[in-house]
Amino acid sequence: MGAKGVIFMVMLNLQIPTPSRWFLQVDGNLNEILIDHAHYEKKAAGAAMNLLFAYVDSTKISRAMAEIVNEELEHFQMVLDLLAHRGIQFRKLSPSHYGPRLHSIVF
Ligand SMILES: [Fe+2]
Repeated sequence: MGAKGVIFMVMLNLQIPTPSRWFLQVDGNLNEILIDHAHYEKKAAGAAMNLLFAYVDSTKISRAMAEIVNEELEHFQMVLDLLAHRGIQFRKLSPSHYGPRLHSIVF
């Protein structure tokens, strides 16, 4: 692992040794990865919001989901700030084939 690999290990708080190939892929696609990360933070907030509406009769679940919505939106804003700091425009990304393929295997 090179110096960039060590930087990624620290920056991403990776807990186990990670193949250099992965670092090269991250390094070559960092803008898209950060944009993708922002979308996932937003998606996590949306999933918690859906559960908030689905379990309206449970105050315990409603409070827990509201906390998650706020936390994930805060993460979303943090990633948007990081994108802006790096001069990266937040935008739509083409959907990957990974999700539907995984879903077809699991379900
Ligand atoms: Fe998050």
